[in-house]
Amino acid sequence: MVFDTATLNRAARVLRSVSPELPADAALRRELAAQRALSGAAKQAVVRAVFAYFRWRGWLEPKDSVQRQLDAALTLQRRFDTRPESFKAETLAARAVPAWLRDEMELPPETLCAWQQEPVLWLRARPGTAVSLARELGHCREPQALPTFAQPWSALQYEGVTDLYRTDAFQRGAFEIQDLASQWVGHACAPKAGETWWDACAGEGGKTLHLSELMENKGLIWASDRSLRRLETLRQRCARASRFNVRTARWDSGERLPTRTRFDGVLVDAPCIGVGTWQRNPHARWTTRVEDVNELAEIQTRLLTHAATAVKPGGRLVYAVCTLTRRETSGVAEAFSAAHPDFVPDVSWPGKPAGIVTLWPHEWRSNGMAVAVWRRR
Ligand SMILES: C[S@@+](CC[C@H](N)C(=O)[O-])C[C@H]1O[C@@H](n2cnc3c(N)ncnc32)[C@H](O)[C@@H]1O
Repeated sequence: MVFDTATLNRAARVLRSVSPELPADAALRRELAAQRALSGAAKQAVVRAVFAYFRWRGWLEPKDSVQRQLDAALTLQRRFDTRPESFKAETLAARAVPAWLRDEMELPPETLCAWQQEPVLWLRARPGTAVSLARELGHCREPQALPTFAQPWSALQYEGVTDLYRTDAFQRGAFEIQDLASQWVGHACAPKAGETWWDACAGEGGKTLHLSELMENKGLIWASDRSLRRLETLRQRCARASRFNVRTARWDSGERLPTRTRFDGVLVDAPCIGVGTWQRNPHARWTTRVEDVNELAEIQTRLLTHAATAVKPGGRLVYAVCTLTRRETSGVAEAFSAAHPDFVPDVSWPGKPAGIVTLWPHEWRSNGMAVAVWRRR
């Protein structure tokens, strides 16, 4: 990967445009959309330089020029990639993440290391097509370290520089870009063909599409969100992927549910502080506010409590968050269990105990995620 002067200048322009209203990923999208003539590799170099800056910001001298700081960040990244042992876990804990984090969650040294690496881009292929898709796209790897009970997975790791959204395979709905931890959530739901599910915080439909796939397009999924804009994107994605068993409705966590239907399963993929995504989105380390944790834990509890009323006796309730703070994970799940004795903790993953399970970012080179499953008596 070449980080020449032109790349550093483009990355510096992105960094100067970043603000509380324009996060780094949006600033990057804007800059790269304006640079149509750039090759995929040149665009990727800009992305890597910008994210390296935020990953190593705690080591940089703010008085230096932005170009100089970018250069220093890339040097630190190279050193970490070749000699990770030259960074002590205490130093990473002190400089790579904000100080408030250590009061909110455990900080395993392996997770701190994972956060300093570049993230893996995960794809989810249609069942049974991973091998042919890998051949068609090129630069794909099958995941190596997944436990065998998780097979057959259709997850692939993409290592190329092509804009995947423009590929013929993507346009015909042959795969989705979906982090492996998000794919786990679909498997924790384990919906069956012909069932009725509610994806209560469906957003743009990443997990709705997976549930529909697992249900073989049979049965019905209600997909709700408080954002109509996101639901519109969800509908477009369903059309592209030929998903016909999805119905959308607006819902914003109130007591009044979008339907009187009682469901075989309800997924609450709740809004959260997003600590689990800090490898992929290192800018968020420096913009996330600890004050938001309490407010989000209240919203998560409200969403879970109200959505739970729509679960049939014998049905499943799944709570998922891409965060790792205690208050948003075990805090919410344990309080829900204590207040709802009719919901019995169930297994979200074969071989793991019932109750909330945390997937740490270093385990599968994915986002961090916490998932709890209950079955209604
Ligand atoms: C983690 S994201 C969902 C991601 C989505 N399930 C996916 O896999 O693509 C959380 C979603 O919750 C929605 N949300 C936030 N506050 C909400 C509320 N009070 N009621 C309903 N949805 C809410 C957000 O609009 C966002 O789409």
